[in-house]
Amino acid sequence: MIDPFGRSITYLRLSVTDRCDLRCVYCMGEEMEFLPRAELLTIEELERLCLAFIRLGVRKLRLTGGEPLVRRGIMTLIARLGQQVAAGTLDELTLTTNGTRLAEFAGDLKAAGMKRINISLDTLDVDTFRRLTRFGRIDKVLDGIAAAKAAGLKVKINLVALKGVNEHEIDRMVAWCGEQGYDLTLIETMPLGEVEGSRNEHYLPLDEVRQRLSRNWTLEPSAARTGGPATYVRVAETGRMLGFITPLTHNFCEGCNRVRVTCTGRLYLCLGQEDSADLRAPLRQSEAEDGVEAVIREAIGRKPKGHDFIIDREHQRPALARHMNVTGG
Ligand code: GTP
Ligand code: 5AD
Ligand code: SF4
Repeated sequence: MIDPFGRSITYLRLSVTDRCDLRCVYCMGEEMEFLPRAELLTIEELERLCLAFIRLGVRKLRLTGGEPLVRRGIMTLIARLGQQVAAGTLDELTLTTNGTRLAEFAGDLKAAGMKRINISLDTLDVDTFRRLTRFGRIDKVLDGIAAAKAAGLKVKINLVALKGVNEHEIDRMVAWCGEQGYDLTLIETMPLGEVEGSRNEHYLPLDEVRQRLSRNWTLEPSAARTGGPATYVRVAETGRMLGFITPLTHNFCEGCNRVRVTCTGRLYLCLGQEDSADLRAPLRQSEAEDGVEAVIREAIGRKPKGHDFIIDREHQRPALARHMNVTGG
């Protein structure tokens, strides 16, 4: 699949549920209404959808949410998709998780053929974690991360950098990830969906963070890529990779290789744009897969050039009404 800007689409991010057992303040409002279960694609439909994308050229598949591991039946889907990795039709099957259920699932993920996973952890402080997630318990997540490591999964920690919230902990997180053997990616907060308080207040440009980090760490430029939007340096002192995802300060849309599908089967061509296509109707209309494949192909033909996120004093409203848990980032 080649889009109008010559970009080859090989990465699908599939949100398997909009639900989550946490309420991270940058992701959700305090009171969220979730979709009625009947709206969701079934596990079988999710699999059919993934297979259609694989036939069309997707090589990397990431399950997101909400929290993917709260979706009932998710391990069935993961085990089936793992067969695509074993067969060589998919290069990578992975997920992004908040870690709360990893203690239970890490072994199964590894057995299904996952090699590495991304886990959100914005702080190592018990109280900050509780405040950021509105009620989460960090010990569950730390246990989950340890279980992932013990199961032999390569771990990358995602940290959304927030001014006045966790900015003074980033140094400590680099050290901790080094000790534990995890890679780390820092992320600029993106203006999706109404959340309480002002995003502008907590927006932290990563150039500033990088400069601060380079006082204490030797950051060696690296050409490493993971297929996602991060650019990496290697932290010489720990030997671990440190990624930067900078949608606000350094737009990376030029190299975009991905699309996302929501748990209701809506295909979004860009995280930062509204344009979408319904894949659920063609999936339900016919067992034959040419209908859904045609809709996907047609939609890729109108993938936009990029997002236009802005965070500044004049832009107090989110760029998009859609919350992050709908599209999974
Ligand atoms: P790797 O496979 O490890 O490269 O993962 P990834 O960075 O692709 O996935 P992950 O789910 O860990 O996402 C990390 C951050 O990148 C999240 O905040 C996502 O919202 C953000 N992200 C991923 N893709 C895009 C994109 O196309 N545009 C924007 N603006 N952000 C994205
Ligand atoms: N801006 C940037 N990253 C976000 N995430 C959730 N909401 C936002 C936001 N508004 C991150 C989560 C998770 C990843 C999928 O997206 O922390 O690591
Ligand atoms: Fe849940 Fe992830 Fe959103 Fe936090 S960022 S509320 S863990 S979906």
